[in-house]
Amino acid sequence: MLLKVATSIDGYIDDTSPNRLYLSNAADFDRVDQVRAECDAILIGAGTLRADNPRLLIKSEARRAARAARGETEHLLKVTITGSGKLDPDLRFWHTGDKKLVYTTDAGAARLRQQLGGLADIVTLGSSIDFGALLDDLGEHGVRKLLVEGGTVIHTAFLSAGLADEIQMAITPLVIGDAAAPRFLNPASYPGAPHRRMRLVGTEQLGDTVLLRYAPKEESDEPPGHAWRP
Ligand SMILES: NC(=O)c1ccc[n+]([C@@H]2O[C@H](COP(=O)([O-])OP(=O)(O)OC[C@H]3O[C@@H](n4cnc5c(N)ncnc54)[C@H](OP(=O)(O)O)[C@@H]3O)[C@@H](O)[C@H]2O)c1
Repeated sequence: MLLKVATSIDGYIDDTSPNRLYLSNAADFDRVDQVRAECDAILIGAGTLRADNPRLLIKSEARRAARAARGETEHLLKVTITGSGKLDPDLRFWHTGDKKLVYTTDAGAARLRQQLGGLADIVTLGSSIDFGALLDDLGEHGVRKLLVEGGTVIHTAFLSAGLADEIQMAITPLVIGDAAAPRFLNPASYPGAPHRRMRLVGTEQLGDTVLLRYAPKEESDEPPGHAWRP
């Protein structure tokens, strides 16, 4: 499972205005389109759905055609997570692309069934959501490769539970400068933190943006930072 994020130079993933802030650049958006085309499902949290109202589609016609030729759906299975069930049925997420799946709690399910009707399949995971159980259920839905596109709470949950295989972080040369803006990750207990170093899988320059790819489950060859002290 792959966590994808775009951050500013000062480590934020959005500003605090009500308008959607597009971090990253055209080359990175095209790269992400290719990554989407190679996955089975795309997941974002309810917070991002409400804040950004994204469609989460594969933009390139050629990539959609290649998926169809491989016997896959043209677009990905779209997945979201909500406890409250407060998701507007007019969001673009529901009305574009292929199938949609909503993971929720017992409490959220009743509201969702009433609000969404047949717009999505609703899966209840009990009184709270366990992210490992969620991945198991996605596996039963045939999802082998999952792309997680945020936001903060969702990335924090997957990474702190040790469930992410790869992080793809695009750093874009913007400064947000607002301490109230959201970051990639919230404070949490992360496996091996703060000393365990992740393995760097690759880097790529995309115009003025740099992509970093890390494997959080694998250790870096470098010694821990404190070993360098004189
Ligand atoms: N730059 C980027 O790459 C990027 C990418 C994506 C998002 N973003 C930004 O990230 C921000 C949104 O992040 P966010 O942290 O507020 O929202 P989020 O992570 O997208 O979603 C959080 C929501 O998911 C549901 N949820 C999460 N864990 C749950 C659990 N264990 N049980 C039940 N429900 C659970 C809850 O929904 P309910 O509240 O409905 O219960 C929670 O409020 C936005 O500003 C967006 O623009 C940036």
